[in-house]
Amino acid sequence: MVVDGEKMEKHWCRLEREGNIGIDFIINPYLYKEIADFLCENPESKIVDFGAGTNMLAIQFMYGNSPDIPALESIKNIAQARKNIDSFIGLEGSEQLVAKAREQLGELGHPGNIDIRHFEVRHGRRKPFGDSSIALAISRNFVMHLEKSDLEYHVSEISRILKSDGKSIIAFLNPSYEQKKHLDLSPHNKPLQTNEKYSFVHGSHGEHGVFAHYWKDIDTYEKIFDKHLKIINRVECFPITDRFREKYHRYYQKDLPMALVYVLAKRQGPNHESLLPPGRQSARYIAGDTVMR
Ligand SMILES: C[S@@+](CC[C@H](N)C(=O)[O-])C[C@H]1O[C@@H](n2cnc3c(N)ncnc32)[C@H](O)[C@@H]1O
Repeated sequence: MVVDGEKMEKHWCRLEREGNIGIDFIINPYLYKEIADFLCENPESKIVDFGAGTNMLAIQFMYGNSPDIPALESIKNIAQARKNIDSFIGLEGSEQLVAKAREQLGELGHPGNIDIRHFEVRHGRRKPFGDSSIALAISRNFVMHLEKSDLEYHVSEISRILKSDGKSIIAFLNPSYEQKKHLDLSPHNKPLQTNEKYSFVHGSHGEHGVFAHYWKDIDTYEKIFDKHLKIINRVECFPITDRFREKYHRYYQKDLPMALVYVLAKRQGPNHESLLPPGRQSARYIAGDTVMR
């Protein structure tokens, strides 16, 4: 069963309400650090978040309190980062989630610098921003939902809308983690192939919902990133605490980070040299400080 549409909204809202260990304790600590580091160097940044859900990332990043938000605890420059945000705009494909996000913004008194708009990312659908107008284009757990040609167009559009010194920071589930989870769940499952639509189960067996993903191997992601942008860092996300080791053993597999955060920069010209070493299939060893545990 592959769940899109209405059920997706219900599941996602429930996951947000109940907390999400994978996001709170594994992805955000790394993702928020990269976002904060970028912002500290870039005053008056316009940020866009694709597949923003209910805009929780923007709300937490701009207004969340540590220690309620574990990811913020280690981010010492958060106050400076927040000062440098001009606007934080979420684009989201589900009208119901946009409505929910608006409700939440209402509860916060409609802050002037956060917004959410309905926009579905699809091949050929131009993003509603001018060329070179955005400082930072981000997404969290979004690109797994895109079919390969939609992803390719999405990344090419990010390159178009980014300012010359702009960056894109993309956090997503490690395809190898997705693959292993898929195979572990059932001995009858065949290995996923690139662009195959499948049901990704949230939780151990779908107790938090079943979402439609298009599985893509890491080479596919990196080739698309590298074609339109410059890969400058890749961070592997492991839990920041041992607290969940027993209950959520799957997050603690050695050499199998649950998620990856890519930091991508706008290319300065058509012939700009790639940072992917020739013949290397993965960018994982590019930067000495890439792997954080
Ligand atoms: C797993 S949720 C992540 C939500 C949010 N990024 C977060 O981390 O809180 C994926 C989101 O992507 C949205 N989405 C999926 N396909 C989309 C598309 N083609 N265009 C825009 N949004 C899409 C879904 O509606 C959902 O809100």
